Amino acid sequence: MNKNNTLLRAEKDMGVMGQDRIETLLDRLTLEEQVMLLAGEDFWSVAALPEHGIAKMRVTDGPNGARGSGSATHGNTSAAFPVGIALGATWNPALVQEVAGAIAEETKSKGAQVCLGPTVNIHRCVTNGRNFECFSEDPELSAALTVAFVTGLQERGVAATVKHFAGNESEIERTTINSEIDERSLREVYLRPFEAAVKEAGTWAIMSSYNKLNGTYAAENKWLLTDVLRDEWGFDGVVMSDWFGSRSTAPTVNAGLDLEMPGPTRDRGEKLIAAVNEGAVSAETVRARARAMLGLLDRLGLLDGVPDYTERSDDKPAHRALIRKAGAEGMVLLKNDGLLPLAEPQGKIAVIGPNAKVAQIMGGGSSQLNPHYRVSPWEGLVNRYGAERLAYALGCQNHRWEPIIEEEVMVDFYATMDLSGPVAASVALESSVDFLYQPNGIDGLDGQNFSARMRTQFTPTESGVHSFGVHSAGRGRLFVNGELVVDVWDNWVRGRTFFEEGCDEVTGQIDLTAGETYEVVLEFATVKAANLINPAFRFGVSRPLGEAGIAEAAALAAESETAILFVGRSGEWDTEGSDLEHISLPEPQDALVEAVLAANPRTIVVLQTGGPVELPWLADAPAVLQAWYPGQEAGNAIADVLSGAVEPSGRLPQTFPLLFADNPTASDDPEIYPGENGNVKYAEGIFIGYRHYDAKKKEPMFCFGHGLGYTSFEIGSISIRPEGAGIAVDVAVTNTGAREGQTVVQLYVSDEAATVARPEKELKGFAKVSAAAGETVTATIMLDDRDFAFFDAAEGCWRVDAGKFTLRAGFSAEDLRATAMVERESRRILV
Ligand code: BGC
Repeated sequence: MNKNNTLLRAEKDMGVMGQDRIETLLDRLTLEEQVMLLAGEDFWSVAALPEHGIAKMRVTDGPNGARGSGSATHGNTSAAFPVGIALGATWNPALVQEVAGAIAEETKSKGAQVCLGPTVNIHRCVTNGRNFECFSEDPELSAALTVAFVTGLQERGVAATVKHFAGNESEIERTTINSEIDERSLREVYLRPFEAAVKEAGTWAIMSSYNKLNGTYAAENKWLLTDVLRDEWGFDGVVMSDWFGSRSTAPTVNAGLDLEMPGPTRDRGEKLIAAVNEGAVSAETVRARARAMLGLLDRLGLLDGVPDYTERSDDKPAHRALIRKAGAEGMVLLKNDGLLPLAEPQGKIAVIGPNAKVAQIMGGGSSQLNPHYRVSPWEGLVNRYGAERLAYALGCQNHRWEPIIEEEVMVDFYATMDLSGPVAASVALESSVDFLYQPNGIDGLDGQNFSARMRTQFTPTESGVHSFGVHSAGRGRLFVNGELVVDVWDNWVRGRTFFEEGCDEVTGQIDLTAGETYEVVLEFATVKAANLINPAFRFGVSRPLGEAGIAEAAALAAESETAILFVGRSGEWDTEGSDLEHISLPEPQDALVEAVLAANPRTIVVLQTGGPVELPWLADAPAVLQAWYPGQEAGNAIADVLSGAVEPSGRLPQTFPLLFADNPTASDDPEIYPGENGNVKYAEGIFIGYRHYDAKKKEPMFCFGHGLGYTSFEIGSISIRPEGAGIAVDVAVTNTGAREGQTVVQLYVSDEAATVARPEKELKGFAKVSAAAGETVTATIMLDDRDFAFFDAAEGCWRVDAGKFTLRAGFSAEDLRATAMVERESRRILV
C-alpha cells in the first residue's frame, strides 16, 4: 500500500553522494569525538563538533505537535493537532501527510530538526494509557498512516522518529516489563507499521522502547535493532533510546542502539571509551554507530551549516484551518436516530457536562504541549448557533486529580531531607504542578536529595466542603492555614502517576468560606527513583458538586428543546505513564447522562475519550458522536460536525466492545494483561482487535471501521484486474443520499483454504472517497502477494498457500456488501 518509490529513489541517490563525505569525516573524528555523537548533550540535543563542521541536532516531542524545550504548561505556545487515534479515525493518509507536514513546520519553529513521532504501537488492550497516541488496532491501517506521517515530515526535511520499537502496548511497569510475543504476531501485527516506515517511507530515525522484548531490553536487542531492522528491512537511519531507556553501555552499542537520550550521558562517554579499550565494544562498532549519526545529520543539513535554533510561537491561519478540518474528519458518528445534523435549531439548547466549557484537546504525558489556544465545545457552539440560543450546566466533574491552583507558588529549597537547616534557595513557580522538578544550578543542592516548602494562596468562590489532593514523586503533606489536610509522608507508595514514579492521588476535605484567602503549604521531600529521574508534584483543590449538579443539569435539559452533553475523559486519564483501570466513564458521568436522557430524549451525547468506553445508556441515546482529542480547534470542529457543515467521515480505528470483559486481553490470567512477575504474555497472538471478536463470535458495541454519515452509500460491483505483480480491486461506490459526502471503502481478505490458524478476515486495503449526491465513483485498492500471506516463523518467511481467497468490500468490519473470489498460487516471500 502507498509505496513512495520516488522518495526512496531520491533518498538513495543522496545516500551515495553523502557516503564518501561521511567516511572522510569519520576518518577525521577521534574515538572520543565519535563517542560524543552517540549520546545527548542535554535533554533535547546532541552536541555540535564545530571544528568538524558538525552542528548541534535538536529534537522535540511529538507526535501531535512540537512542544520545543519548554514546559507543557508554560513553554512557547505550539499548534495542537489531533492525537493519534483521531488521525487513525480519519482513514485518510493524504490528510495525515498534510498534518505531518504542518508538524514539520512547527518542529522548525521550535529550533528542532527531529520530531519524536509518530507513535505507532498497536491498540492491544483497551486500557493502555497511550491508546490515544497510537493510530489503530489494525496493522495495515497503522502502517498506511505511519507511512503518510513519516513522508509528511521528511519531505520537509524534518526527521521522523517512529516509536516505540517494539512491544510497548501498555504503560504498566513500562520501563522494565518483558513483552513476550511470538514471532508471527510480531511480524504480522506489532512490527508491521515499523516495517512500512522503513521500507515504504524510508524513516530517518526510530526510537527503541523501554520494555524487554522476549527477554532482552529493546535497547539491547540485537535481533530487533540489527537483524530485523537493518539487515532484513534495510534501515539506514538512527535508533535512539527512549528517555533514560538505554540501560547499559556495551550491550546497547553492540545491539545497534546508535544514540542514548537524553543527555548528559549516563551510559556512554567515558564508559564507552573504557568499553572499547577493554574490548567489550569494537572501534568498528562505534564507527558504525557514528556513521548512522552522521548520516542523519547529513540528511538534516547539519553538516552544511548551523540552523536557527530560536524557539518561537508561530500561530498560522493555515494550521488553524488544517487542525479544524482534520479534527472534524476524525470524529466518528457512532449512532444517529435522525436527531443530527442540528442544522438550524429553533429552540433553546442545553449545553451540559464537564467537557463543555473545558476544551479537551490532547492526551497526557510527553506529547502534551502548551497550545496557542483551545476552543471549547461551548465556544464552538456559540460561534455556530449564537450565545442567545444556549444555556449551560456543569452537571458533574470528571477530573482524575483535583484541579491545580493557578497562583504563584513560592518554593524554599533545603539541602536536607526534612526541611531543616537554612533555606538553600527560593524560586517562584507559576502554578501548583511541576513535572520535572529539578532545582538545577542551585549551589549545594543535589537534585535527587532535597526537601522543599511550597507556599501559595487559595480564595474559594463558594463556601462549603473543599477537597484538596496531592500526588507526587516524593513525599508530601499539605496544610491549609496550618491545618494538616493531606498526608503522604510516611505512607508514600509508588503508584500510577508521574511515569510510575509518583503515588496515586491522596485527598483530604476541609470546610472553607467564600472570599477568604487561605494559605496552602505543601512540604515535599524526594524519594529514590525506581527508574526515571523525576522528582515531581501536583496539588489542587475543588468543591465537590454532589447530586445537586446532576439535578440542576436535568432540570435545564427538561426546559430546553435539545440537550448536548459533553462527557468523557481528559489527558489526566488518557495518559502516558499509567493504564486505565476500566473503560467506564469516570464517575458520576453515566448517572449524569441517564438523568439528562430521562429529562429530555432529544439529547446528543458527545464523547471525548482516547479509546473505547462502555455506554450502558446507549439504547436510550438518539445520537452519539465520538470526538476524541481533536486539537486546539476542538469546539469549532465539533460544531462543524454537529451542525452538518462537515459530513462525518471518521471511522473507528479500534473496536468498541460492549463490555470491558469482551476485549482481546480480558482474561483470568494476569500474565496476559496487565502482566505478572514482570512479564506480559501476548497469548492471544494475532487475534487482537476485530480478529478477536470474529474468532470469539462476540458482538462488539461498535465494530472496527464503523462510522455513520449524514448521507448514505451503496456498493455496486467489485471487479479485479491484474496490475503489475499484484491485482487491482475496483469497487464502485454510489452516494445514494441527498448530500455530498465522504466514505471509507474497506477491503478484507479471507484465506478460504488456510493451512494455519488465520483470522476470519484481515483488512488489506482501504480508500477514502468523496461523491456528490447520486454520483458513482470507483475506489481502487491494490493488493500484492504479501496481502495474502501469513508469516511462517519456522521457515522464516512470508507464505501464501495456493487456493481461494475471498475479498469482501464494505463500510466496516461488519458491514460487508460485495464479495469476489481470487485464486492465488503458492509463494514464499523473503523478509
Ligand atoms: C516517552 C517518549 C518521549 C520521551 C521524551 C518518554 O517518556 O516514552 O515517547 O518521546 O519521553 O519526552
